[in-house]
Amino acid sequence: MKVAKHTFDAVIVGAGGAGLRAALQLSEAGMKTAVLTKVFPTRSHTVAAQGGVAASLGNSTEDNWHWHMYDTVKGSDWLGDQDAIEFMVKKANEVVVELEHYGMPFDRTDNGKIYQRPFGGHSQNYGQTPVSRSCAAADRTGHAMLHALYQRNVRANTQFFVEWMALDLIRNEDGDVVGVTAMEMETGEVSIFHARATIFATGGAGRIYYSSTNAFINTGDGVGMAARAGIPLEDMEFWQFHPTGVAGAGVLITEGVRGEGGILRNASGERFMERYAPNLKDLASRDVVSRSMVTEINEGRGCGSEKDHVLLDITHLSPETIMKRLPGIREISIQFAGVDPIKAPIPVVPTCHYQMGGIPTNYKGQVIVPKDGNPNVPVHGFYAAGECACASVHGANRLGTNSLLDLLVFGKSAGETVVADFKAGQLPLKALPANAADASLARINRLEKQTGGEEVNDVRLEMQRTMQKHAGVFRFADMLKEGVTRIKAVAERAKVTQIKDKSQVWNTARMEALELDNLIEVAKATMISAEARKESRGAHVRDDAIDCAETPNGRDDKNWLKHTLWYSEGNRLDYKPVNLQPMSPEVEPIALAKRTY
Ligand code: FUM
Repeated sequence: MKVAKHTFDAVIVGAGGAGLRAALQLSEAGMKTAVLTKVFPTRSHTVAAQGGVAASLGNSTEDNWHWHMYDTVKGSDWLGDQDAIEFMVKKANEVVVELEHYGMPFDRTDNGKIYQRPFGGHSQNYGQTPVSRSCAAADRTGHAMLHALYQRNVRANTQFFVEWMALDLIRNEDGDVVGVTAMEMETGEVSIFHARATIFATGGAGRIYYSSTNAFINTGDGVGMAARAGIPLEDMEFWQFHPTGVAGAGVLITEGVRGEGGILRNASGERFMERYAPNLKDLASRDVVSRSMVTEINEGRGCGSEKDHVLLDITHLSPETIMKRLPGIREISIQFAGVDPIKAPIPVVPTCHYQMGGIPTNYKGQVIVPKDGNPNVPVHGFYAAGECACASVHGANRLGTNSLLDLLVFGKSAGETVVADFKAGQLPLKALPANAADASLARINRLEKQTGGEEVNDVRLEMQRTMQKHAGVFRFADMLKEGVTRIKAVAERAKVTQIKDKSQVWNTARMEALELDNLIEVAKATMISAEARKESRGAHVRDDAIDCAETPNGRDDKNWLKHTLWYSEGNRLDYKPVNLQPMSPEVEPIALAKRTY
């Protein structure tokens, strides 16, 4: 196959919030910038973000970045890197006001300021009372954000390659990143994108699970490409289950519903969160709320004929409030649950939503790997931002609406780093290796020639069921062990998948096979890292972790307050320290006690 070559100053993979924000920084600085995207930019998964973006503007209730930082560190169950968290919360107001100036149509308070609503785990005065911190455009914040950022990029002459799928990272013999290979979906042709800087902003991989709020495009492409190219993946055992996916459908019902006053109820109508989180109740952090819901269901207090979900009740809100603040939620409830929330509660269950781990980066957006005894050495030419990256600001559990903040702050920061390095002459266009496209062509050739293997769909389904059963909201030592064996076996089957009727094949079928290669890397990283972490922390809760004074909530700081690094080659695990300045859990009274809300 003939391979075309395109040369740019920078290539960005992914056109969600992080990719668009990074691209804007580069294009406005005059860098020749390509953005590769599987879907039209405004259909990227950021479009599904509903409830808001966190910033301590204090428009409705008093707030400041110190409280936001404290909440984020506590929410992360101490695994977040505090230099990155501090950077993010301090930049929050700036990036939100910037968006407003780009034309983002935020809702308004009566006095014309950006409207803010409460979200889980966000508090005033270090955990005392809920705070209104999430800046919202009704329940379509991500949609509004993508449109504002895309239009701004068009103005800045960012060059979009729409319906192109990146295939593999290209590294030279020194390990520097010099671009990517990509397939144009319409023609199936492969090209090389040769660049001084490569930024991954490919989003999450929630499709490794059977039940997910994630779009079908969320196949962990950047994370898979990085893993195959020898980059370790950080903290992949930590997956967020959003408390309120529509039961049976998985579609997201924003936490903003509870921010507006929604209440979770069990079969007897009890507001059960009062028992689990007496202070913040339904607005406790997501890991806590999801576990409480599953406990209610497991103990027989679930709703419906199967007793397999709980109810989210907003019937006490006025129809006007629902129509004004939550119009999309009403639509989703009617379409996917057959329920008008003005009249009846919505059936909900915890559903896979967000990957806390990813490609290791620092707060400048540089991808960092261990080298010569230093755990955090930047890989020349390689950057990442948004859900595919692990900065790490979310640690073991992300707070709602810190994701849109993460992608804005670190998308911009990665862009700023690239521009600064470019202007300082530190980003030369390094030569491509002679075999730059070989790995990608081999993967495509295998699909053309493979016979005798299973269908892609069957293997993907087996992977999703294995992940759901063996690495869900609650985790069990024996199930994790068995899960490792099973997921390794699924990975072997994925190597020999075949497209059966090659005469009828569309490039979308090829894409699904190539996406499975990425999903499998993420699934292996998740299961193996989870089995190895012998404690409970944030979203990772095991039955064999001991809850006592030295290990509150099963969290074992003495042995496990460290980041996991998983290497695809040999399924090898390594660990590196967490940045614990300024809040060390050894001296913070809050950390010595149980984490409660
Ligand atoms: O509930 C939501 O609106 C989701 C927000 C988030 O994941 O940050």
